[in-house]
Amino acid sequence: MNHKTYVIANWKTHLRIADSVALSKKIMAGLPQPVCPHVVLCPSFVSLPAVAEVTRGNPDVSVGAQDVFWEDSGNYTGEISVPMLEDIGVNHVIIGHSERRQFLRETNDMVDRKVAAVTRHGLVPIVCVGETADERREGKQQMVVVNQVRSALRYLPPTPQHHRVIICYEPIWAINPGRPCDPAEAKVMAGVIYQTLIDLYPTSMIKPTFRIIYGGSVTAENVAEYVDKDIIFGVLVGTASRSPEAFAGIIKAIPC
Ligand code: PGA
Repeated sequence: MNHKTYVIANWKTHLRIADSVALSKKIMAGLPQPVCPHVVLCPSFVSLPAVAEVTRGNPDVSVGAQDVFWEDSGNYTGEISVPMLEDIGVNHVIIGHSERRQFLRETNDMVDRKVAAVTRHGLVPIVCVGETADERREGKQQMVVVNQVRSALRYLPPTPQHHRVIICYEPIWAINPGRPCDPAEAKVMAGVIYQTLIDLYPTSMIKPTFRIIYGGSVTAENVAEYVDKDIIFGVLVGTASRSPEAFAGIIKAIPC
């Protein structure tokens, strides 16, 4: 957990098991040496065991889920719990991605319970926050993101727990290569998130615990403009993570 920066691949519902395995093998084969950021591959639930097998033994690469349920077990038809993810070696979990908030009615209240469950088990949550185009037009982006961050961390106590928590600023209008967020504006929003953390936690806890990253139309060409290791410590990548060449380019563009 000493890695300072992250490159996280979100394959969403694009790839079946064989495609996920083939892509992970190509990504593993193309990793630069040394690998500077920590790489996290997030395939679909059903592809997780096979992808975990491909990445096994490489300390620079982890496997992450794209969602999880907040209870450990019980009568919750269709859900996947944190212990089930632990069984297959998953140690990161994307939580509250805007597509889940939009298409599956995932609320801030569900996000905070998922963050609590994941951190309770010592896995790393990748909490996605970000405003819609309308909210930005109305000047509400900071208020929306502060509320999302405060809510997501509601059950994370202000005492050092040796957790790692990744918060991804991902403006919804910048996803699925559309209009990448101006890097200067992404840093302003990362600063807003950082200030929210300062309001919630002792300063001594913030650096060891939290990493703020950016997501939305990231490419090998633009990634270096976002990651400055000052306020933004990595990226969440959708489209470009499904091309081994583009993804390798993103990893290489992040300096050690
Ligand atoms: P994108 O997706 O890189 O295709 O914009 C990012 C995401 O949805 O996490």
